[in-house]
Amino acid sequence: MKKLVVLTGAGISAESGIRTFRDSDGLWHDYDIMEVASPEGWRRDPKLVLNFYNERRRGLYEAKPNAAHLTLAEADEEFDVHIITQNIDDLHERAGSTKVLHLHGELKKARSTADPSLIYDIEGTELNWGDKCELGSQLRPHIVWFGEAVPAMSEAAEIAHSADVFAVVGSSLVVYPAAALVQFVPSSTPVFVVDPKEVAVPSWREITFIRDKATRGVPKMLEAIRNLS
Ligand code: APR
Repeated sequence: MKKLVVLTGAGISAESGIRTFRDSDGLWHDYDIMEVASPEGWRRDPKLVLNFYNERRRGLYEAKPNAAHLTLAEADEEFDVHIITQNIDDLHERAGSTKVLHLHGELKKARSTADPSLIYDIEGTELNWGDKCELGSQLRPHIVWFGEAVPAMSEAAEIAHSADVFAVVGSSLVVYPAAALVQFVPSSTPVFVVDPKEVAVPSWREITFIRDKATRGVPKMLEAIRNLS
């Protein structure tokens, strides 16, 4: 069974009604990254940060996995599918994917500001000032903010290195270290990109580019993978 490793970004959730970051209607056109998604922003105004993620969590409760998430979950039957996602939504899991690695954390989880190993599921949509961990310290979103380390990166690199086929679906590949994952993929491994727009991929790599939105492009990609020699 071929090991299919798929790096996903905000674009795969766009058709579920979840905004991307850098499209013309993207989140970063309405919010200052440093205010709502950085340790400095958290220190300056933690309630603003908590509200930003409460708003996104409310949106997530209304969203459903789309055909791209579902098709990837169904592909588990014919490929050994490993999903490495930059997304903090749980749409891959809700679609039925079982091997999902979150590089940038999870919207539905909170963690202690005193001990980062203390991670909790958030019941409902709100994480507020005054919500404390078992040590009595404030809880923060379990999200990797700009300027913070990506603890799952070495595991992700190992998975990418072991891929028989590697794909990128719905990512602009402009945020590191996630964007560097392609470099861990062996040169002999076929690489596919599904995106309606051009994506910044290494020029030295041969890429099969499927220029389409994810709900149409992922089934096309799987068909192309089935036809690989
Ligand atoms: N189907 C597939 N791709 C799409 C669709 C769609 N329907 N709509 C948009 N896209 C593509 C865009 O063309 C773009 O290439 O999805 C990509 C979204 O890029 P970004 O908004 O930059 O999202 P992403 O690559 O996931 O950002 C990476 O940046 O802000 C941080 O932590 C955040 O995880 C995020 C990281």
